[in-house]
Amino acid sequence: MNIAVLVSGNGSNLQAIIDAVSQGKIHAKIALVISDNDSAYALTRAKKANIETFVLSPNGFKSREDYDKEIIKELKKTNIDLVVLAGFMRLLSSNFVKTYENKIMNIHPALLPSFKGTHGIKDAIEHGAKVTGVTVHFVDDKLDNGPVIIQDVVKVDEKDTIDSLEEKIHKLEHKMYPEAIRLFIEGKLKIEGRKIKILK
Ligand code: GRF
Repeated sequence: MNIAVLVSGNGSNLQAIIDAVSQGKIHAKIALVISDNDSAYALTRAKKANIETFVLSPNGFKSREDYDKEIIKELKKTNIDLVVLAGFMRLLSSNFVKTYENKIMNIHPALLPSFKGTHGIKDAIEHGAKVTGVTVHFVDDKLDNGPVIIQDVVKVDEKDTIDSLEEKIHKLEHKMYPEAIRLFIEGKLKIEGRKIKILK
């Protein structure tokens, strides 16, 4: 099976997935890394791992649909079976979501449906939450809304700052994302509406 990872920034989750594949924990190929940002460090990580990259700036596209059409073209060319969003800072058009229905995953640094959006870690701290965590979910056409694949909890200590909480959350993300991908690749995720059963 072929995986595409879509990124915009640092790519520490991409790195965790690259490592899991090279350690034989995920039996699939990362066939393509796509970025909307040509200075994303994630692209350096991809190149170091000899993974094909494709960069497409949204500048000059009239609509999200037009931009996504180009991305879908690349995904089809590479016969992608699973699209993994790893810090990709764009919402997907409903056409994209429909084309890869139940084949697009995202990771969110909070326990959805709490603290949706781009500041999940900061929002949890400011809300005074005692626990937060990580969610891996399938992507539908609403923000941070699709069926939950796996979730796990991180405690928020009184002395936690955004940085220290982020560090704890990233550590957990780097274990959880490869695991969720493994479950998908091995056909262990059974989707029943919003509910996902994990087969043994
Ligand atoms: C992660 O915290 C992820 O939960 C969020 O974006 C961040 C990406 O980090 N969606 P990285 O680029 O993988 O280091």
